[in-house]
Amino acid sequence: MAHVNLLASLPKLKRNIEKRAAAKDPKVIAEAKKFDELYWDGPREYGYGGYHYDGRWRSVARDIIAHLSLMPGVRVLDIGCGKGFLVKDLMLECPGLEVFGLDISRYAIMKAPEAAIGRLHMGTADNLPFPDKSFDCVLSINTLHNLPRERVITALKEIERVSKGKSFVQVDAYHTVEQKALFESWVLTALFHDYPQGWYDVFKSAGYTGDWDWTVVE
Ligand SMILES: C[S@@+](CC[C@H](N)C(=O)[O-])C[C@H]1O[C@@H](n2cnc3c(N)ncnc32)[C@H](O)[C@@H]1O
Repeated sequence: MAHVNLLASLPKLKRNIEKRAAAKDPKVIAEAKKFDELYWDGPREYGYGGYHYDGRWRSVARDIIAHLSLMPGVRVLDIGCGKGFLVKDLMLECPGLEVFGLDISRYAIMKAPEAAIGRLHMGTADNLPFPDKSFDCVLSINTLHNLPRERVITALKEIERVSKGKSFVQVDAYHTVEQKALFESWVLTALFHDYPQGWYDVFKSAGYTGDWDWTVVE
């Protein structure tokens, strides 16, 4: 297990915390949690504020491929793949890599770029519709915290079950009370988030053996 920053090359999000905090009403939160059109392509207070392929995941894909020693023929699953942009970019960066995605959002899957069409499955992270050891490598970026704690543990067990050993998860965390307060004023969809120690307890309960990193709102 290693703590590794694989998203270092991603452009830093410009977050307007004050605007989000003001706009966060229960109706907006309920809509965002549907992970439907408003979350992806509606106004910014509902989520992404319009999410289109722009190649921003290509450099992340390169770093993932290098860190996890992925090569042609290897099977990769991206849990919480959204519109499948990382699925596409992993295959662009390593032709012959067999990449698949899974997401709860039908809307996102219906917006997949051509290269990912047919590779994205609808489902939930804590009940993966795949046999044991189906994938050489399983990724899940900024997704698992959308489940409550017990289901996060189940989802991590599912990653262990379907993977042959390599995995990487990135989840919402904070290191200080200030970061926690900032996070809580920003968060829309996350149901479980914690300090690293809280996450380590979750990893241990699940028997998670892969790599990880934190998304910290700053
Ligand atoms: C913040 S987005 C991250 C998308 C992508 N991994 C990325 O980093 O750009 C969170 C994703 O989690 C998905 N999601 C939420 N709950 C889920 C669940 N129970 N199982 C699978 N995916 C889920 C959402 O539809 C969305 O695609």
